[in-house]
Amino acid sequence: KKLIIINGPNLNLLGKRETNIYGNLTFTEFFDQTIKKIPNVSLEHFQSNIEGELIDKIQEVGFKYDGIILNAAAYTHTSIGIGDAVKAITTPVVEVHISNTFSREEFRHQSFISPNAKGVILGFGLQSYELAIQSFLDN
Ligand code: DQA
Repeated sequence: KKLIIINGPNLNLLGKRETNIYGNLTFTEFFDQTIKKIPNVSLEHFQSNIEGELIDKIQEVGFKYDGIILNAAAYTHTSIGIGDAVKAITTPVVEVHISNTFSREEFRHQSFISPNAKGVILGFGLQSYELAIQSFLDN
């Protein structure tokens, strides 16, 4: 299986940013630990703070890979462009959030990704990513 985690804006600051919400681990630390736990899977990671770069990446992998694990971060709640990209591709997308966006501000309750995602996993901290990876292995 060929999977990719695509992370949106400010997720490069994991481990430093609002650690009460997002935890103390950097994404690189988490990624290295996780890769070791799941052999026989090609897992890549891409992060950008730029909306168009996220769309470019979704288009690039979206007809080739077996699965996309997408945390579009703040763009989740604003980006019709990323929502449309998810709709345009054939690779299934699992939407992920570290925090439970529904227990936070009202503006985080809307997602332009969810209507076209295969599923959504949120609120389990970084484990949300692991659960999303698992969902692709079971199917
Ligand atoms: C987030 C939730 C978003 O509302 C927020 O803008 C983020 C991270 C999460 O993983 O919990 O940057 O996607």
